[in-house]
Amino acid sequence: MAAIALPSTMHAWQYKEYGKGMHQVELPVPAPGPKELLVKVAATSLNPLDYKLESGSLKMIYGLKLPITPCTDVAGTVAAVGEGVTDFAVGDRVAAWSDVMKSGGLAEYVLLDKKSAAAKLPASVSFEEASGVVTTGMTALQALRDKAGVPLSGKGRVLIMAASGGVGAYAVQLAKKAGAHVTVTVGARNADLARSLGADDVIDYRAVADPDNPLAHPGGELYDVILHTTAVPEKWDHFHRVLTPKGCVVSTIPEFSTFLRTAIQSVTFAGQKMIPIFCDCSKAEDLKLLIEMMGRGELKTVVDSKTPLKEADKAWERCLGGHATGKIVVTVP
Ligand SMILES: NC(=O)c1ccc[n+]([C@@H]2O[C@H](COP(=O)([O-])OP(=O)(O)OC[C@H]3O[C@@H](n4cnc5c(N)ncnc54)[C@H](OP(=O)(O)O)[C@@H]3O)[C@@H](O)[C@H]2O)c1
Repeated sequence: MAAIALPSTMHAWQYKEYGKGMHQVELPVPAPGPKELLVKVAATSLNPLDYKLESGSLKMIYGLKLPITPCTDVAGTVAAVGEGVTDFAVGDRVAAWSDVMKSGGLAEYVLLDKKSAAAKLPASVSFEEASGVVTTGMTALQALRDKAGVPLSGKGRVLIMAASGGVGAYAVQLAKKAGAHVTVTVGARNADLARSLGADDVIDYRAVADPDNPLAHPGGELYDVILHTTAVPEKWDHFHRVLTPKGCVVSTIPEFSTFLRTAIQSVTFAGQKMIPIFCDCSKAEDLKLLIEMMGRGELKTVVDSKTPLKEADKAWERCLGGHATGKIVVTVP
């Protein structure tokens, strides 16, 4: 195992019980086993999934073994490599998705196993920017490319809901780059930001012209694709009336009704489709693609805030509030 001198313990945040919040802890620095990487974390970004896991509301699905160090999305420097690692070396700057069941990113060091997607960073991409793109960038990419086929068509009209959010801000940029006409929903305070990311038309979700038809395009056009990323419960009627006859909604927050609708549409050969997505965060090739785009200046991370690790509870509260503009980043000195 190649390594540099490492401390024996590290600072981290953990939760030991569901719904009781996080606590600061001192943990042993893990040693990488075969095919594993130890990364000195420089930045980690928070996702709503982190607090959903902590709340216990998803325990039937994920069955976490507590205590958990939260945060899947990390960027930092490889500090040690386990036996059999050939594609990374000590000193490499990387971004990665980490399985919190094994090792979470809200810590000074994180252990990545072979399931973790990891990508090397060009010098022009900062750790903060890179930590933001991991889950939300891959979700936006997979939703548009794999579920909705946006880059394949290169055209079409796309509605991105919550373009000021983690997923939405990347999705606007990716859809625009794919050649789509992009409409977004955001609060008025983020209208200029959305336009700067590539939005052609903006709907202020708090002041819609017709509350019965809140997603209506300002010019009356129909959408080929809607990316639903808000916690507002889905109302199919709102989607149905603004979609083209063969249009689809990709939902990052699928509920029971989403799966039911998808199943019914499938057996009835319906033209319009509701499509749930669960990001496949093991896809290193997707993370590499996004990082390369960032390196070329084609994709950027909107950073809501940067908070030092010692004050990560403040970042956590901000994530809970649901009103971040872009990514909430925790920096690790
Ligand atoms: N299925 C998957 O694989 C997957 C992957 C990633 C994320 N997700 C889920 O997708 C959801 C979005 O994630 P995220 O990281 O993008 O969330 P986020 O960054 O926390 O979203 C916050 C943003 O949403 C905006 N917003 C809230 N309600 C809105 C509304 N009704 N219309 C328009 N904008 C609204 C807020 O704007 P204001 O401040 O103006 O209200 C804020 O800027 C989460 O529930 C997350 O768990 C799922």
